[in-house]
Amino acid sequence: MADRPSLADRLAAGETHPAPPEPLTIVIFGGAGDLAHRKLLPALYNLHVDALLPARIAIVGASRGEMSDAAYRAFAKDGVSQFSRRPIDEDAWSAFAEALFYVPVAIDNEQSYAALGSRLDVVEHERGIAGNRIYYLAVPPALFAPAVSNLARRRFVNRGSERPFARLIVEKPIGNDLDSARAINDAIAAVFDERQIFRIDHYLGKETVQNILVLRFANSIFEPLFNHRHVDHVQIVVAEEEGVGTRAGYYDRAGALRDMVQNHILQLLTLVAMEPPRSLDSDVIRDEKLDVLQSLRPIAGGDVDASVVRAQYAAGFDAGTPVPGYREEKGVARDSRTETFVAIKAFIDNWRWAGVPFFLRTGKRLPKRASEITVRLKEVPHILFNANSGSRLDPNVLSIRIQPDEGFALGISSKVPGPRVSIYPVRMDFHYGSTFGASSPEAYERLLLDVMVGDSTLFMRRDSVEAAWRWVMPILDRWASQTAEPIPTYAAGDWGPREAGRLIESTGRRWREP
Ligand SMILES: NC(=O)c1ccc[n+]([C@@H]2O[C@H](COP(=O)([O-])OP(=O)(O)OC[C@H]3O[C@@H](n4cnc5c(N)ncnc54)[C@H](OP(=O)(O)O)[C@@H]3O)[C@@H](O)[C@H]2O)c1
Repeated sequence: MADRPSLADRLAAGETHPAPPEPLTIVIFGGAGDLAHRKLLPALYNLHVDALLPARIAIVGASRGEMSDAAYRAFAKDGVSQFSRRPIDEDAWSAFAEALFYVPVAIDNEQSYAALGSRLDVVEHERGIAGNRIYYLAVPPALFAPAVSNLARRRFVNRGSERPFARLIVEKPIGNDLDSARAINDAIAAVFDERQIFRIDHYLGKETVQNILVLRFANSIFEPLFNHRHVDHVQIVVAEEEGVGTRAGYYDRAGALRDMVQNHILQLLTLVAMEPPRSLDSDVIRDEKLDVLQSLRPIAGGDVDASVVRAQYAAGFDAGTPVPGYREEKGVARDSRTETFVAIKAFIDNWRWAGVPFFLRTGKRLPKRASEITVRLKEVPHILFNANSGSRLDPNVLSIRIQPDEGFALGISSKVPGPRVSIYPVRMDFHYGSTFGASSPEAYERLLLDVMVGDSTLFMRRDSVEAAWRWVMPILDRWASQTAEPIPTYAAGDWGPREAGRLIESTGRRWREP
């Protein structure tokens, strides 16, 4: 691992095509599932097309169902045809398909690992792979602990070994609360060293998310302004247009706080708020991110009512079409108290951000799908162009669009041409699509490649996952104690409930619509 160029080195060298990783096998537990079909297999295919996979690789799907290798290749091709960012090229596909295999495995049944082990031995021997393995747990979280303990019992894992290496990729969610997250982390830590573990939050693989650090620390214009002296407040919104869809079974037990805030939104917050790391070493960056999570002011007890708004969508419209309310959705209990929207006023109690509110907002059935971070700077002194109250100037706003239409914009004031001094807000706008042309790699492409080369910068470390849970737990506890309080609603297609408006307007600010 040590002689591999790190993300730091690659970033510093401006390199976009790192050397292919060493020969290896990827075992996808849950290889016949939705995630493998829609994301993992298309991502691996695109890495193959870009010649970023090792020359010798085996990708082995493992689920309970019986399937031949040929059937698994057809399953993969179907996923790639539907979900790959590039259309299938038959020549490229044939070479890729040769690396695909399937083995029936019941994760919770130790006996079935024998067949997996012998199949891996044969495949690796035939393909000249010396034993480097990545185990991807694309299965429900209840299977994470049985999977790792059976891997250990059947001696699939050489703890700490660098050659050959064994690495583990764990999907979210890591637990449903702090205790269950710890239990999962303990079970994994009993088998793998922390540096062998890659906890995926696919948000962190998005180009625009990676660009937050570049924007902040590769430009001298922004960093001097990112602090309480210049920033009025920060907003982070992750809005979904869709309702709960087919995910009610999971979502009704999770809700917006667990599904979006505990992971994606807090991760975005850490990137916007962290101190400049002393290097781009993965642990140095992750130390700084952890520091932000640990500096978040706890919101507990009665403070939850004042600083957090939860709500559920009621019937409304999606692009003019009537849609049902959350409690009428298939699979949702009629008296469900699960929040589909949450808005939070948070503070980071450190020197840099003292007193600067961070407004976090996420929800389903909002008017559009959009993830955006907005850094609103303070107003200029009321002396010149805005000396009287009739001539207010829009403050500068930096908005970082995570999705869609990835890019960022800076709102500035400009004089309208003409004899009078009339000021108009204009935007300097950067769009990834128009500047860099080619479609950006999907998050999973980047993340899978990073695991192959052993770079954990974009993955969540155990302490950070648990720190995030520690911060959201008192909010969940407060809600759990309020069994009789009515939950506010908002019409599907609106930007959330009135209460969310009041949360920010009571501070003299307002939500920015992405
Ligand atoms: N789908 C997404 O877009 C997405 C996004 C982010 C995170 N995730 C996470 O990724 C994981 C997988 O999600 P998914 O949507 O792919 O779920 P899924 O479609 O239900 O697939 C689960 C897979 O696990 C296999 N499986 C279930 N029980 C098993 C067992 N005892 N032994 C062996 N295999 C078993 C299933 O196949 P058999 O029934 O044949 O065994 C299936 O291949 C979950 O942790 C989820 O939270 C998914």
